[in-house]
Amino acid sequence: MTDKKVRGWLFGYIKAYRSYVILSLICALINVAATLVIPVFIGMGIDGILSKGNVIWDEIYPVMLMIGGATLIAAVSAYIMGISNNRITIGVVKDIRRDAFDRLHGLTISYIDTHKHGDMISRVISDADALSDGLLMGFSTVFTGGLSILGTLGFMFSVSAPIAAAVVVVTPISLFVAGFIAKRSYKMFLAQSEDRGEQTSLMDEALFDLRTIKAFSQEERIMRDYDDISEKLKNDSLGATFFSSITNPATRFVNSLVYGAVGVIGALFAVKGSITVGVLTCFLSYANQYTKPFNEISGVVAELQNAIACAKRIMELSYADTEDVHGGDTVLTDTNGKVSVEKIYFSYDDDGKADKSKALIQDLSLTVEPGSRVAIVGPTGAGKSTIINLLMRFYDVDSGTIRVDGKDINTLTHDSLRGVYGMVLQETWLSEGTVRECISYGREDATFDEIVAACKACHAHEFIMRLESGYDTVIRDDSGLSEGMRQLLCIARAMLSLPQMLILDEATSSIDARTELKIQSAFSAMMVGRTSFIVAHRLKTIESADVILVMKDGRVIEQGSHEQLLAAGGFYKELYEASG
Ligand SMILES: Nc1ncnc2c1ncn2[C@@H]1O[C@H](COP(=O)(O)OP(=O)(O)O)[C@@H](O)[C@H]1O
Ligand SMILES: [Mg+2]
Repeated sequence: MTDKKVRGWLFGYIKAYRSYVILSLICALINVAATLVIPVFIGMGIDGILSKGNVIWDEIYPVMLMIGGATLIAAVSAYIMGISNNRITIGVVKDIRRDAFDRLHGLTISYIDTHKHGDMISRVISDADALSDGLLMGFSTVFTGGLSILGTLGFMFSVSAPIAAAVVVVTPISLFVAGFIAKRSYKMFLAQSEDRGEQTSLMDEALFDLRTIKAFSQEERIMRDYDDISEKLKNDSLGATFFSSITNPATRFVNSLVYGAVGVIGALFAVKGSITVGVLTCFLSYANQYTKPFNEISGVVAELQNAIACAKRIMELSYADTEDVHGGDTVLTDTNGKVSVEKIYFSYDDDGKADKSKALIQDLSLTVEPGSRVAIVGPTGAGKSTIINLLMRFYDVDSGTIRVDGKDINTLTHDSLRGVYGMVLQETWLSEGTVRECISYGREDATFDEIVAACKACHAHEFIMRLESGYDTVIRDDSGLSEGMRQLLCIARAMLSLPQMLILDEATSSIDARTELKIQSAFSAMMVGRTSFIVAHRLKTIESADVILVMKDGRVIEQGSHEQLLAAGGFYKELYEASG
């Protein structure tokens, strides 16, 4: 991603605040004009002092008033510009952050699966903050700085072209020095942001995998990792500040040269009588004012570089592999539940497309009649969950077609496709809130009686009643729910929303065998008339399925009913006997 693209992207956000940008520019203009006019007044005042004791007070009084007025105007305009600049940057960063957050939903499951979550958080939070700081400094300085350079130049040329020309000649040196240093510090700033992302990831890992870390006594290793990354962050930060802090002294030096040159040339002109002492004084303060913005701008160049570096990281997130959020255009309603899979190939890595013989899922075809029960069995890693990922279109097939009701799922909206499936997975996911809210997640209109009925059906009611506040217990990490209990809540949620099709991927893996048996009848009732896909590790629970797919290494190696498969005496029989 080129910096030009990043700037264009950022500019798109700033455009929304163009009225504030215009206000800031107007204020900057007023501020610069008021500031620039003060030396003129001072020059007039000095020229009013003819010699010791010979002062034209009638000329000096109004000049003093005008200086006071100009100072006041400069102050007020600077204040308004400050507020307006803050509006712009706070607004821009809010919009960027909102979009970035919104994009998180659009990210493909594969992006989420392969990127560190802490790093993504750091991009949305810390990088956006740094961007905001940089933008604010940038705006304030570039607006006034730019205008005052132009204004001063204009004035100097109008008073004395030779002196002004001398000033202009020295300018590029100042720019060159500032630019040279900024380029070097930019790299350091980018590294600094990356280090911050890594640090956040590590913290995220340390918090969320604390149990694993403790169980494997990895505290020391993770502390070592932390020390390494902190050390790197320290060095990169020091490097960045080293370069950015020599910018100012270096440009200051160049500027003093400018000041000296104007002083000498101006004095010669004044001695010759071609300018007055008042004009020379005025000129000297312009020389000072002219160079000051260069100092300031080169100072914020570093800050702006940092902002661009951060913007780039946020932008990468926004431009990451995103699924088109809506999927296709067709809305799937009232499905009859016929699913057909035609010659699909799939592999998790992108180059799987090139070499079909290495694909995880190869040439899989399957026709599922409405209302039938499909069980998928096979050893761990066989590709069972992958098929579920493809059915829900969490991943896209590399070739082949999956149809629901005869409609290619690529043409359906994500919402409507995913809405027809009720899903219970091995990994539980519960929304925030109370037990009751969490169960009615997919069906906010459910009555309390319906919720209780669903919980009774899956035998979750008993343990919910034993919780501190029953159905109003707030689910938190520390509310002491076991994995099995969480899974029961997920089952209750699916039972309540009861969509047209069901996906149960090891839905009872954390539930004890006795409860599982009890739930089985509720599952059976739920599956009546609903096309269901069941991945189960206890083969007893799927004996009554209409068709059993036996998977091994991504391929369906056997297919049939329980009796047929047993009679065939193949891999299924082996699995069945081993599972007892
Ligand atoms: N998100 C992923 N990215 C890359 N490889 C994956 C991903 N998910 C699963 N795999 C790999 O695909 C294979 C099949 O996995 P999966 O379908 O989850 O197996 P099962 O559910 O049958 O245990 C495994 O080798 C697994 O390592
Ligand atoms: Mg699985």
